[in-house]
Amino acid sequence: MGNVKLAIIYYSSTGTNYKMSQWAEEEAKKAGADVKLVRVPELAPMEVIEQNPAWKEHFLATKDVVPEAKVDDLDWADAILFSIPTRFGNVPGQVKQLMDQAGGLWFQGKLVNKVVSAMTSAQNPHGGQESTLLNFYTTMFHWGAIVAAPGYTDDAIFASGGNPYGTSVSVDGEGNMKEDVEAAVRHQVNRTLDVAGKFVE
Ligand SMILES: Cc1cc2nc3c(=O)[nH]c(=O)nc-3n(C[C@H](O)[C@H](O)[C@H](O)COP(=O)(O)O)c2cc1C
Repeated sequence: MGNVKLAIIYYSSTGTNYKMSQWAEEEAKKAGADVKLVRVPELAPMEVIEQNPAWKEHFLATKDVVPEAKVDDLDWADAILFSIPTRFGNVPGQVKQLMDQAGGLWFQGKLVNKVVSAMTSAQNPHGGQESTLLNFYTTMFHWGAIVAAPGYTDDAIFASGGNPYGTSVSVDGEGNMKEDVEAAVRHQVNRTLDVAGKFVE
């Protein structure tokens, strides 16, 4: 899988999905993939971000450090791992905005056979993780992408809470992850790379 180009594309307000993406980045580099970690551009106005100290802190800490995701990254990648928090059981608007810029690539057939997989988080253990991933994957089906969901392909999935659609976690009031999902994240990125490796010459 050394020649697989993997984009890890995340959106995070308070750091959870960034952390999961960093685990995935580390694991994918270990596996020899060509990895690009990018953050979905923030669209919320600064006065809204500032109302939540954790959001403000994370935004300022990453805005000049992690490159912004662009539609070109979708084109570049053989495989894409997305990490996105739930918003009322659905995909954050910031992520939707990036997807909605991909019409041109879609029209040219350039999103066909992208190997994709997604992870998520919510405040509650049953706060919409599964619906967020299923809603997100709808777009992937329209692309003609190959969804490499984890299923139950490793014990790490059972240990992390057993979400077969993608690694998912819940966070407490301080933003700490309540379940230990690191091994599931690492398995999910390896599985994504394994599947992608079957398509890359
Ligand atoms: C507008 C909005 C809607 C949200 N909706 C839900 C929800 O329906 N269920 C839930 O458990 N958490 C919900 N949350 C909490 C976020 O999903 C949670 O803060 C996020 O997963 C943490 O990830 P992050 O640290 O990467 O931003 C919501 C947060 C916001 C700002």
